[in-house]
Amino acid sequence: MTFHFESWLQQGSGRAENALEGALDSAQVVPQRLHEAMRYAAQGGGKRIRPLLVFAAGELGNSDPAMLNAAAAAIEMIHAYSLVHDDLPCMDDDDLRRGRPTVHKAFDEATALLVGDALQTKAFAVLAEAQGPAEMRLQMIGELAGASGSRGMAGGQAIDLESVGRKLDLTVLKQMHAMKTGALLTCAVRLGGIAAQLDSAKMTHLTQYSTALGLAFQVVDDVLDATADSQTLGKTAGKDAADDKPTYVTLMGLDYAQKQAKELQAEALASLACFGPEADALRALAKLVVERKN
Ligand code: IPE
Ligand code: IPE
Ligand code: MG
Ligand code: MG
Ligand code: MG
Repeated sequence: MTFHFESWLQQGSGRAENALEGALDSAQVVPQRLHEAMRYAAQGGGKRIRPLLVFAAGELGNSDPAMLNAAAAAIEMIHAYSLVHDDLPCMDDDDLRRGRPTVHKAFDEATALLVGDALQTKAFAVLAEAQGPAEMRLQMIGELAGASGSRGMAGGQAIDLESVGRKLDLTVLKQMHAMKTGALLTCAVRLGGIAAQLDSAKMTHLTQYSTALGLAFQVVDDVLDATADSQTLGKTAGKDAADDKPTYVTLMGLDYAQKQAKELQAEALASLACFGPEADALRALAKLVVERKN
């Protein structure tokens, strides 16, 4: 049977929206303004790549749909929180996100800070309260915590901030990207693999795939920052060069960055060689991540 990525994508995106909607508190619940701001941050225009990776990896085995939905909502909440904080004046100081004013602009800075705090803890509550085996949920919670913390996303963001105006060498640049962005993408794929109850050999291949894909994702983000316009991106274009941020483009040049993204895509695909058609969604997502326009 041929795999139709377009319909898979449409279905997966709808599923991601529903999983998030089901997990977020209503804006009627006290404190209303905070809940409204959390919904504003989590909803409205994200590509939902991380939930899609959870679903795609989940297809490698006989996953419980409820566990996949919980993992998808949880990781997207962590991602949304990371964007809200990334945009704060004390970090990248951005006004535009997903084509709308950033949370601290639409609300205020203190609210944006609390939105991040509350989305982060909510993500773990979603996994703790999901219908599924306790051991599986515990493993997911551990993976998500590790990927979000000082050895993952938050640590990568720390390297990013202390690197402004510096000329990093390629090893440090790669580590920064792998941590600030790669860790959560790898986590998304691994959460799907955990739900699918894959053996350790398959998990190793899956982790190789997601490590390459995670790095590619940020390399492409750097490329798009330098080549696309704000309207297409839904965020301020040209921000990295303006802020003197070390990126694959500002340090290595556009050509190198584009070639690197392609190489990482090939590496990701090669890691899936041991899987059959059940990994077609993961293959298509690797292509999407590298060839995306926003
Ligand atoms: C942007 O992530 C921030 C990075 C980690 C590079 P996405 O490009 O996935 O943002 P949304 O969720 O689609 O807005
Ligand atoms: C952010 O990297 C990675 C995160 C952990 C949020 P960027 O700062 O390049 O992300 P954008 O370009 O603002 O989305
Ligand atoms: Mg940043
Ligand atoms: Mg930023
Ligand atoms: Mg960027």
